[in-house]
Amino acid sequence: MKLSPAITVKPDIFSVLTYPRKERNVLLERTLADLGITPLPFGKNVVWGVPVLGKGWSSIVIYGMQEQKEVAIKIQRRDSHRLSLGREALFLRIVNERGIGPTLYHEGKDFLVLEYVEGVPVRNASVQPKHIRCFLEQCHTLDLLSVDHGQIQGGKHLLIGEKCWIIDFEKAGFRTPRNVSSLVSELFLRKTECASRVRSQFSATSESLIKAVREYKKTNNLSLLLDVLHLS
Ligand SMILES: Nc1ncnc2c1ncn2[C@@H]1O[C@H](COP(=O)(O)OP(=O)(O)OP(=O)(O)O)[C@@H](O)[C@H]1O
Ligand SMILES: [Mg+2]
Repeated sequence: MKLSPAITVKPDIFSVLTYPRKERNVLLERTLADLGITPLPFGKNVVWGVPVLGKGWSSIVIYGMQEQKEVAIKIQRRDSHRLSLGREALFLRIVNERGIGPTLYHEGKDFLVLEYVEGVPVRNASVQPKHIRCFLEQCHTLDLLSVDHGQIQGGKHLLIGEKCWIIDFEKAGFRTPRNVSSLVSELFLRKTECASRVRSQFSATSESLIKAVREYKKTNNLSLLLDVLHLS
């Protein structure tokens, strides 16, 4: 009996480029090679036995090297309803100019090449005052740009490493920005283990934080929030 290659060939990093289909994407393989990018099996998540950086609802993110540079390749999943990664690329270009988000190195038809960033999602990290300040400042900058990230609440797109990273701008949009208020809610006000842990580190009450967020919404001025959190 002749077995199909999908059954006989052991999955490698090239097998996951078309996840969840088990096909090769020769065009993407060639495009990455032309860009000098070598995809490598590396990361804390595993797909079909192959280590990857991440597997989200709309994409699969794999590690790679471009010459001496580490990169993350975000590839649209074949079962994703998202039309393209173009929107994410558009917002990354805007926020990258302000030093926010992983740098966008290359935009392809159904993939992005991004700066590789290392960090732990806030809910699993030891969150220190300097991290709060850094996220607050980035969220404030996004608010001033009228760019709403859209997924600050939830925390999985806030990574703490050597720097504080806001990732995944796929749901970003030009609309009333709620980045600072979502951040305060995520880190201090929600009924989550993470929020109660972070709140207990600061001597700020929920009432004083809610008041400071209301004030911020009126004035776009971070100072009261920074005062309440003893970060000024
Ligand atoms: N630039 C990067 N460097 C390193 N790892 C990354 C990078 N971008 C994404 N990742 C990893 O891949 C995961 C999925 O990325 P991302 O959130 O951008 O994809 P997604 O498909 O939109 O996911 P979701 O459905 O969760 O929103 C992240 O949680 C992170 O672990
Ligand atoms: Mg996403």
